[in-house]
Amino acid sequence: MGKFSALTFMFCALVIGMAMPMAYANAQEYARFQNIYLGKETTTSIQVFVQDDLGGQNPTVWEVARCNFTSNSATSFGQIRVLDDLLTAGPDRKSQRVGRVQGLITSADFQESALTMNLNFIFTSGQYNGSTLCMLGRNPLGNQYRELAIVGGTGVFRMARGYAITNTYSYDVVTSYGVLEYNIYVAYVDTSRADQ
Ligand SMILES: *[C@@H]1O[C@H](CO)[C@@H](O)[C@H](O)[C@H]1NC(C)=O
Ligand SMILES: *[C@@H]1O[C@H](CO)[C@@H](O)[C@H](O)[C@H]1NC(C)=O
Repeated sequence: MGKFSALTFMFCALVIGMAMPMAYANAQEYARFQNIYLGKETTTSIQVFVQDDLGGQNPTVWEVARCNFTSNSATSFGQIRVLDDLLTAGPDRKSQRVGRVQGLITSADFQESALTMNLNFIFTSGQYNGSTLCMLGRNPLGNQYRELAIVGGTGVFRMARGYAITNTYSYDVVTSYGVLEYNIYVAYVDTSRADQ
């Protein structure tokens, strides 16, 4: 093999190598993604309630880590908790079950009680059954209304973006049971209109 052809060979191998990830992607899924991306955006607002069970018989929020001065910190700095809370249509825990909220809440502020939240809203009934919304943001607990970002979603909510306003609907100090109201405002691509 001459010097030129060896170089040509290496160049071709490089180009093919770079193209490989594309070749592995699912063509049908890629076409679907293009349809969604080019589809029409629609908006919706959703009101849900999170049953935040911090104590009692079956808590749904659990501490998994803290730093060595968290217990001396007025803001519980460094505490990381994992939760799998029930999501309901109304404030009553026995109201219609809508899904779950799962994720991480981290106390991440030296000055005030504020959480860094990373939550997935998982819908298991109604028109959004099987779809999820991905929420991130800062939650300063001292404020009555807190705004968090909706940064994406799956299923019906592909390409979702928006925000949520949350407030503490009620909190029972004896049982450590909180009910949180979330009003979610979200834009997403309506796939039923994607081909128009
Ligand atoms: C916490 O850990 C740091 C780093 O290891 C150490 O310097 C500090 O003394 C510890 N503080 C307490 C209260 O244990
Ligand atoms: C939600 O969807 C799942 C999977 O398709 C189905 O098994 C379930 O019955 C649905 N739940 C409701 C309440 O519609």
